[in-house]
Amino acid sequence: MSDLDERELQALGWEVARQLFVLIRIARTHGANNEAWGPALGKVNSAVKQADGIALRAVDGALYVGDVRLKVDRENYTAQEGVIRAFGTHCVGAVEINPGFDAMDLKNLLTTWGSSSPPTPEQGLELLSGALGDGEGIHLVKAPKPKSEEQKDSRHMAKAIYIRTLTAVEDVMESVKINQAFPLKRSKRVMQRLVDNLLADPVNLLGLTNLRCYDEYTYHHSVNVCVLSLSVGRRLGLPKPMLAHLGIASMFHDLGKSRIPVDVLNKPGEFDDHEWDMIRRHPVYGVKTIVKLKGADELASRVVTGSFEHHMGYDGSGYPKLPRQRTMSLYGRIISMCDCYDAMTSARVYNRTPATPERALKLMLSKSGKAFDSVMMKVFVNTIGIFPVGTLLLLDTGEIGVVFQANEDPAQGDRPYVRMITDTHGRELDTPEEVSLTETIAGGKFRWNITRILDPNDLEMDVSEFFL
Ligand SMILES: [Fe+2]
Ligand SMILES: [Fe+2]
Repeated sequence: MSDLDERELQALGWEVARQLFVLIRIARTHGANNEAWGPALGKVNSAVKQADGIALRAVDGALYVGDVRLKVDRENYTAQEGVIRAFGTHCVGAVEINPGFDAMDLKNLLTTWGSSSPPTPEQGLELLSGALGDGEGIHLVKAPKPKSEEQKDSRHMAKAIYIRTLTAVEDVMESVKINQAFPLKRSKRVMQRLVDNLLADPVNLLGLTNLRCYDEYTYHHSVNVCVLSLSVGRRLGLPKPMLAHLGIASMFHDLGKSRIPVDVLNKPGEFDDHEWDMIRRHPVYGVKTIVKLKGADELASRVVTGSFEHHMGYDGSGYPKLPRQRTMSLYGRIISMCDCYDAMTSARVYNRTPATPERALKLMLSKSGKAFDSVMMKVFVNTIGIFPVGTLLLLDTGEIGVVFQANEDPAQGDRPYVRMITDTHGRELDTPEEVSLTETIAGGKFRWNITRILDPNDLEMDVSEFFL
C-alpha cells in the first residue's frame, strides 16, 4: 500500500469518483465516441498510480476509499450522488482499480454501465462483469444487502434538502451583496420542501445541523438556525403557514452580514472596536435591506423582526440597544435561542474550538429567564434533548455513541437514541448501529448507562460525519 496521508487519499478518491461520474454520464449521452474519454481516463490512471490502486466503495449513502470516508461538500455532492446511484442500479458495492489496469477495460466497463438500464441490479452486475471479461486490473464487488431501505431513503432525502437549502441561502445572500435584491419567491419554494420534510421526518434534518463548516460559516449557520427554529416551531405545534414564515425569517436572520466585509467576518483574531461596531449593526443592516423591497408583505415583516431581534436578548441585554424595552416577538425568541446555540457549537474562524452541544446548552440554561425566555428554553431542551443531538457519549459498556434523536418522553429525557460508532473495545464500527438507551436486559436493568460525555475536539473527531 502507499504511504499517502488521509488528505491526499481523499483528493485522489474524489478524483476517481468524479471521473467515473462524468464518464458514466458521457457514456449515457454520447456513447463511446467522445473527446472527453481520453483526458478523463488519463486522470483516473494518474490517481490510481499515485494511490497505488484505488478501491472505491459505497456504504450507506457515503463513498469510501479503502477505510477512508470521502468527505462531502457542495462541490462534490453531485458526483457522490451520481456514483452512488450508478452503483445502486448495477448492484455494485465497490470498484477496485489496480495500478497498471488497462484503460480499454475501464472504458468498456463504463460504456456498458452508462448505456444499460438493467431490469434488476443483479442483472446489471452480470452485464458489467461481462463487459470486463478477464480484465485483470479491475474488480467489481457486489453490493451487500442494505439494512433498512426505508431508513436509508429518509436520510438521503433530508440530506438533499439540506444541501438545496444551503445553496438557496448562498444564492440569496450573494445576490443581496451584488444588487441589493432579495428574491423572496425562490426562498418560499425551498422552504415549502424543508417544512414538509421536517414534519414528515424531524430526526434526520435535526441531525444535519451538526454539519458545520467554517469556510462557509454564515451559510451553514443560516440553514442550521432555520432547521433548529423549525424543530422548535414543530414542537410548539405551529401550523404550516407559520412554520414557513418562521423558516424564512430564521434562514435570513443574518442577512445583514452580507453588508459586512468578508475579511472582517472571517477575522481569525479578536475584533477591534470599529469591527465590533460593524458586527453589532448587522441586525439593522438586515432590516434596511428588507424594507427597501417593493410591496413588502407580512412575510417580509417577519424577516425584519427576525433580523432586528435576534441579538436583542429577551431582557434587552443584547444589541441593538433600545430606548425602551419591548416585548420580543415569538419568532424573535425562537430564533435568538437557536442562533446562540448554533454559534456556540460551531467552529467559526474566530472561535476555532466549538463548545460541545451539552456545554452550550448548560450555558444557555444559566441565562434562562434573562437573555432567553424560560418557557422557550424548556421547549428547546425538549426538542434537542438534555444530551443534545450530536453529543458524543461514552457508555458503561465501553462503547462510544453519538446522540441522534432526543427521547420524546420527557421522563426518559436522559435516555436518548444513540448511533453506536465503536464496539466495546473502542474499535470503530463499519455500519453504525442505532439503539435506544431505554433498552433493558434480564432483571429489568438498562443495557447501557452513560458514563460521561466526550468532547469530539479532544478526540479530533468530526461528529458531523455520522449524520451525512
Ligand atoms: Fe447575527
Ligand atoms: Fe446568527
